[in-house]
Amino acid sequence: MERIAVLTSGGDSPGMNAAVRAAVRMAIEMKMQVFGVRRGFAGLIGGEFEQMTARSVGGIIQRGGTILQTARSAEFMTEKGQLEAIRNINRLGIGGLIVIGGNGSLTGALALHEKGVPVIGLPATIDNDISGTGMAIGVDTALNTALDAIDKIKDTASSHSRAFVIEVMGRNCGYLALMSALAGGAEMVLIPEVDVELSKVATELRDAYVRGKEHSIVVVAEGAKHRATDVARYLAERKGEAGFEVRLTILGHVQRGGSPSAFDRILATRFGARAVEELAKGTSGKMIGVRGTDLILVDLKDAVCEKRGLDLYLYELQNTLSR
Ligand code: F6P
Repeated sequence: MERIAVLTSGGDSPGMNAAVRAAVRMAIEMKMQVFGVRRGFAGLIGGEFEQMTARSVGGIIQRGGTILQTARSAEFMTEKGQLEAIRNINRLGIGGLIVIGGNGSLTGALALHEKGVPVIGLPATIDNDISGTGMAIGVDTALNTALDAIDKIKDTASSHSRAFVIEVMGRNCGYLALMSALAGGAEMVLIPEVDVELSKVATELRDAYVRGKEHSIVVVAEGAKHRATDVARYLAERKGEAGFEVRLTILGHVQRGGSPSAFDRILATRFGARAVEELAKGTSGKMIGVRGTDLILVDLKDAVCEKRGLDLYLYELQNTLSR
């Protein structure tokens, strides 16, 4: 294989740059030409290719975001868009593509594979909602960002004897919320995988107040049955019942940015290099994942079609330890 291309797509996540750097430099090491595609699948359709050199990925391993930029392309979801993309790939004689992104991006990668383009996907999303891999690029950094915020909010919560409702990202997956609650010692966590009624939240908070807690932290996943704003409003309207005065913090996109952690840099580096090695071997239609400390190959079909389960033992543990 003489030419490959790499793109980042969907929501950015910290560590994408480390994966691009590893892919580019490994490809050059293997005597391939490597092209970066700007703005994900949108750039693939628009023909936004740029030849990369070892220097064009210098100084990026520690940078959040993605130097290739990213987009969510509705056009690529159409047959016409995909044909246009394949036409551009063929025009440049590109024999393999690395797609770095979340569920939607890997679905796009699968579509290209099914149309004959050799593709390897790399899971990159702060949501950790992709089946077949223990971790995706960016999860660890986002988790540490959320945790840092929770720790800080806890200081204020203790000083004022308040309850804080904190919304974390994760789309329809409770991973980020559960793990940040567990690591942050939160009093309660609400996740999409478990339905909890608002009255139960009020009761839990009241019990914590009565037990003498100085603060109460309720972490709410953005995909939970009740949104954080609704939880905060409900509690504020029942201050007498919940004991604590209530405040709301929505962490939002701060969780997507920032310098990737050592874990994310190393994971992304291993993923990026392995993707090139697999393309060179003729592998296609696979995602690189991690199980324990080992890299594994997962069918893209399984990665995007199966729903990733959450370890609900950890949910129970969180509840038990929040006493
Ligand atoms: O998938 C990553 C993510 O940050 C989700 O957690 C969130 O629901 C979504 O993207 C936000 O998307 P956007 O950046 O397009 O608002």
